[in-house]
Amino acid sequence: MKEQEPSRTAFAAAAHRAIHQVVEKGKIFRDPLALTIVGMKAEDVQHEDELQMSRLGIRLFIAARSSYAEAALWRAIEQRGVRQIVILGAGLDTFAYRSQLPANTCVFEVDHPATQAWKRRWLEQVGIECPDSLIYAPVDFESDTLLDGLNAVGFDSAQRSFFIWLGVVPYLTEQAIDSTLGAIASLAGGAEVVFDYSDPPSSFSMELLALHQARAARVAAVGEPFLSYFDPAKLHEKLRELGFSEIDDVIGRRLLSDYLERPTTTARSSPENGGTGSGGGHVLFAATQFA
Ligand SMILES: C[S@@+](CC[C@H](N)C(=O)[O-])C[C@H]1O[C@@H](n2cnc3c(N)ncnc32)[C@H](O)[C@@H]1O
Repeated sequence: MKEQEPSRTAFAAAAHRAIHQVVEKGKIFRDPLALTIVGMKAEDVQHEDELQMSRLGIRLFIAARSSYAEAALWRAIEQRGVRQIVILGAGLDTFAYRSQLPANTCVFEVDHPATQAWKRRWLEQVGIECPDSLIYAPVDFESDTLLDGLNAVGFDSAQRSFFIWLGVVPYLTEQAIDSTLGAIASLAGGAEVVFDYSDPPSSFSMELLALHQARAARVAAVGEPFLSYFDPAKLHEKLRELGFSEIDDVIGRRLLSDYLERPTTTARSSPENGGTGSGGGHVLFAATQFA
């Protein structure tokens, strides 16, 4: 990311969720604030024919990863009594602003300081109120320590916590990813995390590689290049070594087929997208031992 500037890809991801509400009627992921948070109206989307047809695969993947993450989060809330939620690299995520949460539940939004400051100003502009249960923690994953940032704003390491970390890992160095996962795994109260990642491009089909290269060039041009890819088996080994005992890793293509009546055949590919060929995006749930 550019040091002093808010994330441009954060707006793009939120716009995909907004367009999904209109074009697919939120079939995969319903978000009543998705349009408001990007300052769009349904009519704006309906007139954007080109926008509707382009980037279908990435849009569906972004919707599906949120749906998967929030379903896992609600299971943790209901089945394991989780009351501490952390949205890492939150961007224009709306979970905290639209969810009816049990009493005594806290949501921490962690993001790069420049993106977070911009979001807070932007929320005022679009008229979205910040609930009392929400606490902001500015953290740069590349240079700050996640737990220092969280502890400074009242995070309780002794309580079981749930982390949602979507659309962020591909933009970080492996060192920053390792230290963030290590911090999550080390929490005394136990923790669960959902994040997405991409297979290495060397495993992509030719079609997928071409799509990936185009997307990589686009994000690099806005100062947010893709930096990290993972071989799934090696990533799972790393997670187990860190202390995660439960792992569910779903490839994008399968995730979409779980949410749609029939498997999508039009999904495009990128580090945030399962695509149609071999390789592509994954969404992964990992948890330290359930009590
Ligand atoms: C593609 S956006 C995803 C935003 C959101 N999670 C979503 O799915 O819509 C990437 C997010 O990662 C954050 N990010 C990127 N590099 C970061 C860093 N070094 N430290 C903290 N956040 C970072 C950006 O600020 C941005 O919010």
